[in-house]
Amino acid sequence: MRQSPSMRNTRQADHPVDAQFTERWSPRAFTGEAMTEAEVMALLEAARWAPSSNNGQPWRFAIALRGDPLWDALLDSMNPTNRSWAAHAGAIVAVASYQLAARAGSEAAKPNAMHAFDTGAAWAYLAMQASLSGWAAHGMGGFDKEQAARAIRLPAEHSLQMLAVIGRRGDAALLSDALREREAPNGRRPLTELAVRGSF
Ligand SMILES: Cc1cc2nc3c(=O)[nH]c(=O)nc-3n(C[C@H](O)[C@H](O)[C@H](O)COP(=O)(O)O)c2cc1C
Repeated sequence: MRQSPSMRNTRQADHPVDAQFTERWSPRAFTGEAMTEAEVMALLEAARWAPSSNNGQPWRFAIALRGDPLWDALLDSMNPTNRSWAAHAGAIVAVASYQLAARAGSEAAKPNAMHAFDTGAAWAYLAMQASLSGWAAHGMGGFDKEQAARAIRLPAEHSLQMLAVIGRRGDAALLSDALREREAPNGRRPLTELAVRGSF
């Protein structure tokens, strides 16, 4: 079915849940509207309040606005299909994590086993805030991590996790035929497949 920005979301929750969770989804059609640094910061502010192990806050973000030199470099790191739609977004945020943690009062930094997990929570907060603010954030793993890490000059002891492609949702007519067919909120496995009462 063809998707337009005004198309109704047909996702159905199996259990009562706030509508923000089913209304957030990851479009590929973006209008090309630019984002300001302040608009991106407002989304990162939500990420900042994510929970993390020992409140370690291992997430790190490198921001590329449309037109920044880093914008071109990050687009260049993407696989061709991802690049084709991300080129019409307003900002790309490289989401990285710091691998080490130092306990309060201790100088010695030790490996933080939760750095990637915690950074995933921060990404989710970013994505939710984008959706609530009238933007859309589409996560991306389909890019050359080494190339992108060089572009953002990723410091030692950091991992590049993903790119968050953010923009104003556009009409699916902007997409290629293959991507247009997929441009709709998708479903989920039933909870009965994922959760057990008691042990697995
Ligand atoms: C870490 C991560 C990597 C992803 N990589 C890609 C990608 O390379 N290309 C793409 O089109 N979508 C990518 N996605 C989007 C997922 O396919 C999408 O989130 C998933 O299908 C659920 O759909 P929804 O976000 O619309 O609810 C990625 C999402 C995440 C969280």
